[in-house]
This record gives sequence, C-alpha cells and structure tokens, in this order.
Amino acid sequence: VTQRSAVAVIDAIQRRAAADPRVTGLAGGLPAEVQFPKRALAQSFLRALSQAGAPALQYGWVEGSEGLRALVARRLRARGAATRDDEVIITNGAQQAIAIALELSTQAGDHVGVDTETYPAALELMRARRRIPVAGAGKVRLIYAMPAVSNPRGLTLDAAGRRTLLARHVPIIEDDAYADLQFAGPAPRPLIADAPDRVLHVGTFSKTLSPGLRIGWLITPHRLRRRALQIKQASDLQASSLTQAILEDYLTGGGRGAHVTFDERLVVLRRFYRTRAAVLGRALHTHLPDWKFQAPEGGFAIWAEAGERGRQIDEVAFLKAAVAARVVFDPGSLFRSSSARSPLAIRLCFSTAPSAELEPAMRRLARVYRRVCR
Ligand SMILES: Cc1ncc(COP(=O)(O)O)c(C=O)c1O
Repeated sequence: VTQRSAVAVIDAIQRRAAADPRVTGLAGGLPAEVQFPKRALAQSFLRALSQAGAPALQYGWVEGSEGLRALVARRLRARGAATRDDEVIITNGAQQAIAIALELSTQAGDHVGVDTETYPAALELMRARRRIPVAGAGKVRLIYAMPAVSNPRGLTLDAAGRRTLLARHVPIIEDDAYADLQFAGPAPRPLIADAPDRVLHVGTFSKTLSPGLRIGWLITPHRLRRRALQIKQASDLQASSLTQAILEDYLTGGGRGAHVTFDERLVVLRRFYRTRAAVLGRALHTHLPDWKFQAPEGGFAIWAEAGERGRQIDEVAFLKAAVAARVVFDPGSLFRSSSARSPLAIRLCFSTAPSAELEPAMRRLARVYRRVCR
C-alpha cells in the first residue's frame, strides 16, 4: 500500500465512525463542543453586524483587521516577544499560516526538519508541495516545530531542547496552536521572542475558541513580510471579515454581560482538558498496562505505543476492529514522516468525547487489542 492510499483508507474508516453516534470518538483532535461559548459568540455576531459602516460584511485589508492584529500582538508581547501590531497577518486558520510560511522559506525538493511524530496536515502539506519532511538532526532548509505543546505528544520543549533547536541555525516555523492550552498555563515564552529574525510564528483561535471561525495568524521576519502578504492576497484576498469582526468583539468583551474574559476562559479550559487527560491516562494505564505513554503537558491527546507483543500488529486492522467495538482513534502512521506503520502507536484524543465515555472506551479497546494480539 502506498502512503496516500493508506491515508485514504484510514480517512474512510474514520468518516464512517464519526457518522455513527454509538462510536466513542478519540480521533481528530476536535475541541470539546460543551466549551464553545455559543451565547457570547451569538451576541458578538449581532453586534458585529450592527457596526457603523458594516465592516463585518465588507472587504477588508489583506493583513486582517487592525483591532484583531493588535490583540494578537499584545498577547505575544505579554509572553516576552517584541511583536508589533503591524507585524501580524491574520490568516484562514493556522493551516494557511503554515502553508504561507513553508512557501516563503523553502522550495520544491527541500528537506524540512520535523519531530519523529508530528501534525499530519503539516506533513500532508509538505508532501503536496514537494517538500521532504525528515525527522532527526540532518541538514535541512527549515524546521517545523511545536515548542509550547506538541501534537501528538502534548509535550513542552524544555530549555535544553529549545537551545538545541535554535542552535541548528535555520529558519523555524513555530506552530503555537496549543500554547494557550499548556495545562500549567499561562502560555510559555514563544520561540519568536528569542530569534525574531528567523522564526515564522503561527497561531490560531481554533483550539481555544472555535475552529469553525477559521482564524489564525502568521508573523514573519521583516524581510519576508511583503512576500507573505503577496502570497496571502493571491490565495484568498483576506481572512473572513465577518469572523474577524465577531472575534474582535468577543475578545474585547463587546457588551460583556455574564460572560468571562478570554484569559478567564483559558483557565477553565486548561483545568477541563487536564482533568480529561488524567481520566484517559488512568484508563489507559489500567486497561493497557503494557502500553507506553507519557502524561501530556497540554493539548488534546495522548500518544501511546503498544507493548512488545503488539508492536507488529497492523494498524488498519486494529482500527477496523476498534471501530467495530465502537471506539475510533488516530493511527500512528499519520503522524510519522517515514512511511513506517510499525511499531504500533496511536493517538487518543480526550478532548471531544464526554468524559464518562473515556474509561469504557479504553476497556473495549483493550479487549480488541488482546484479541488481535492472539
Ligand atoms: C499542531 C496544529 N497546528 C495547526 C492546526 C490547524 O489549525 P487551524 O484550525 O487554525 O487551521 C492544528 C489543528 O489540528 C494543529 O493540531
């Protein structure tokens, strides 16, 4: 099987599972629906529409709305970066920011350094643009990294790891998607604070507010900014004026009634996901005691590697058997830069399914595992 067809097979299985309400969803890395601030966003939506001049319904500038850019820059300054408001480019999610950053700093055929396990849509993007993702310490044109909270492992790069990363002296895409969801909080000092001349910083409101808004951002070194704006403009003119206006109103507390500030919300989210992570971690430990995993320091998921006797199990066969037992997860090969499908590893997301379903789901998964091991 080629890598692409394996991805397509997994995608088809996961889509069928997602459409079945009896299946506990531990795949996908979606934020918890119960945490969407529906009422506050609805109020912000109405206020955004009633603004004089209706900017929410009008075209805007390619770099995004001034107010939202200022909010993003202020949050980065609070974390130690020297980011100016006019350095922020609002994008259609972090994914577009990564795509622009990749185009700015590499060419077809270039090698891009990645973690041994990394964010699948970044790998897919690199392959689609003929960049070659490689794990390890070899010579590369660019590094794609998640220093604050990694996906899929949910780990934070320590001081020594940061030094090693910076010492490689190449441009770095800093994917900060989960930084605000580091359980210990608040978000750590970003890498761009230490190397603004070669870090392309990427962030998003998808994990902390709503991925449906499709709002992220990109900050590039000065010399790349004009080109970044050209690529953004050529691709889609600008991020949605409507969702930018909703977000700006929401973040500035618009007509704040009963709802909490964004920073108060982050405190709640960190506690919420940390509790979920602990529930899933306990269940994993109880039901699959020979599997290896590290408790995540943030994010939405646990990366787990099968014990000795399960390492050669075919992951697609395991996924199919798990779905038949009403559990769906993300197979580990999706996260690997190589096409290796063993040793068996899986990403288990605790973010989406109701907390009470996590332990029973792990019990069923363990039963399936014991069966396929035989
Ligand atoms: C590490 C990482 N970066 C970027 C993204 C994409 O985020 P967005 O919804 O802002 O495009 C995700 C979403 O899963 C992610 O996990």
